Amino acid sequence: MAIFLDSAKLDEARQAKNFGWVYGVTTNPSLMAKAGVEPEIVLKGLAELQFHQVYYQLVSQDMDGMMIEARKAAELVKNGLILKIAPTENGFRFVAKHGKDFPCCITAIFDPAQALIAREAGAKYIAVYVNRTTKQLGNGLALVGELAKVLAGSQTEIVAASLKSRKEAVDAFLAGAQHITVPCDLLANLSIHPLSVQTVDQFNAEGIGICMNS
Ligand code: G3P
Repeated sequence: MAIFLDSAKLDEARQAKNFGWVYGVTTNPSLMAKAGVEPEIVLKGLAELQFHQVYYQLVSQDMDGMMIEARKAAELVKNGLILKIAPTENGFRFVAKHGKDFPCCITAIFDPAQALIAREAGAKYIAVYVNRTTKQLGNGLALVGELAKVLAGSQTEIVAASLKSRKEAVDAFLAGAQHITVPCDLLANLSIHPLSVQTVDQFNAEGIGICMNS
């Protein structure tokens, strides 16, 4: 199980790194565009933060271009690069051919049949857009459950993305996703509950412990 930041903003990545428990960062071309700096700068910056994994999505659409772009991303990220690959004919072909050299996550999966092909092609991960699926097809969490069944016993794991609330994040795990990726504000919010704050305030106000200053 791993929790990721879903962002290409380096200030958010630094904040996530500071939490101490964020495994990596997932990006996509839209997030890259919102980052305000060149993708090369983003990838170098993420590499410097030394997360376990950094997800970069190829924008090239032909096999040669994908390979050139993959090598460039690998040079920039160095360790822990996961290539996000669109679920196109060439995308699945790339994963089947190069998935052993470049760990791949086939992204934007909206149907269990695509997960079957991802599994067969040897993808290490698939990314499913939970909230987007709920909005467009009715039930993103049910899709996660179906994908988990399709992938049971395989090497392919589910990264749940497009999560908009704490409940949706937890429900994605409960539905069978091994990993979740969430935006920075939700990431910061996951560890906080008002009743926890209230309880800790009470401990601090009335309780005692070992005093480190004496
Ligand atoms: O990682 C995918 C995620 O960024 C998509 O989220 O909100 O555009 O559906 P959203």
